Amino acid sequence: MQKIVGPITNHNGKLWFDGVNAKELVDKFDTPLFVISENRIRENYNRLSKALKSNYQKTRICYAAKANSNISVLRILETEGSSVDAVSPGEVSLSLKASFPPERILFTGTSVRNDELKFLIDSKVTINVDSFSQLDRLLRLGVPNLLSVRINPEIGAGYHSHVITAGKDSKFGIWAKDAPRVYETAKKAGVSRFGIHMHVGSGILNVKAFVLALDRLLEISKKIHKSVGVDFDFIDMGGGIGVPYRQDDPTLDLDLLSHKVLTLFKRRIHDYDLGDPFFYVEPGRYIVSDASILLTKVNTVKTTPFKNFVGVDAGFNTLVRPTMYGSYHHILVANKLDLTEEEVYDVVGPICESGDILAKDRQLPKIQEGDLLAVLNAGAYGFSMSSQYNARPRAAEVLVKNGKYTLIRKREKLGDLLRGQIIAEWLK
Ligand code: LLP
Repeated sequence: MQKIVGPITNHNGKLWFDGVNAKELVDKFDTPLFVISENRIRENYNRLSKALKSNYQKTRICYAAKANSNISVLRILETEGSSVDAVSPGEVSLSLKASFPPERILFTGTSVRNDELKFLIDSKVTINVDSFSQLDRLLRLGVPNLLSVRINPEIGAGYHSHVITAGKDSKFGIWAKDAPRVYETAKKAGVSRFGIHMHVGSGILNVKAFVLALDRLLEISKKIHKSVGVDFDFIDMGGGIGVPYRQDDPTLDLDLLSHKVLTLFKRRIHDYDLGDPFFYVEPGRYIVSDASILLTKVNTVKTTPFKNFVGVDAGFNTLVRPTMYGSYHHILVANKLDLTEEEVYDVVGPICESGDILAKDRQLPKIQEGDLLAVLNAGAYGFSMSSQYNARPRAAEVLVKNGKYTLIRKREKLGDLLRGQIIAEWLK
């Protein structure tokens, strides 16, 4: 029997998601299809918000839009009172479109161009500078009232080297020894309010990693406060809260995380004379990962002397995480929830590369052509990392809520592959 989690329910062996029959969605919208539960996004946000606020009232959640930047998802979070962590002018524009006021948008980009800096200043969002170079160029374009600095706290964490974003090999942030100079320069230029930020990595299931890194950030904050005389409006711990992907993965104890991190925070801001800054977090995955499944149809069942392959219509063009990070995504056979997992398959996509594997050596019920698979935890870094590789139009997204559903991103058509392309005059 396949284990059921989150907004998924089992109706006589058939998968429903947030009150909607997966088969009905597929009949209407085809596959591959991302299905997103509004209720689950709200639940995840509120669970986290409650856990944090029970230890410190002045907390703010900045949803990391890179995980899923569909504007309906952004709208849901805006109505919950969330702020946004944006990493590109594109994410800023989408957030503005979703009605986030600029003061609830925090930009944390790296390798940022001058025209992008100008756009950010004009948009009046809060900027987190990532380098002295960026600060210098920013101040020549305009002096914001409030400015934040991304620090490399020298402690990185995360489930894969690609997603560890602090420490000696990291391109992100400013090292502690250089930080006072950055604040001093900004202060001299006329900046009057400040924030401080870090983001150590992603998919962290271990409370201790957050505590260690935050302790370091607070110590750096103290030094800056003492040497430059700046106060902080906010101290931002970054994102990275992990979620279980395997059915036996541990779940991060949110109350413990909140208690440990905020007890430390309150003690240090008191001892270091840092006033009462806001405490920010920037979760992406935690808010949206388990709020979405990817539905994909089986078109091929192939047996070789060594393997059983299940060929589906979603490859790494649709969900790149298994190929890019070796990530595990649990798979349910949406039309066979009551059957036992008696066969072992590699679930593969339509991309012409051998690395196009959604699941390797996976035990599943016996599969036939036409079966419908649900790939779980597809909400974070699913659509947002998808591509048109192999000239395949991108998937559609549907939002579901208490039994109703609506299309929130149209499936691309073949014509979309031509968008922006021009045949060279001399080739006509
Ligand atoms: N804040 C900053 C500055 C970030 O760079 C990130 C993620 C986050 C917040 C949110 O991290 P989260 O809470 O989602 O872990 N594509 C990878 C994840 C890359 C994350 C990069 N930065 C994946 O699919 O696992």
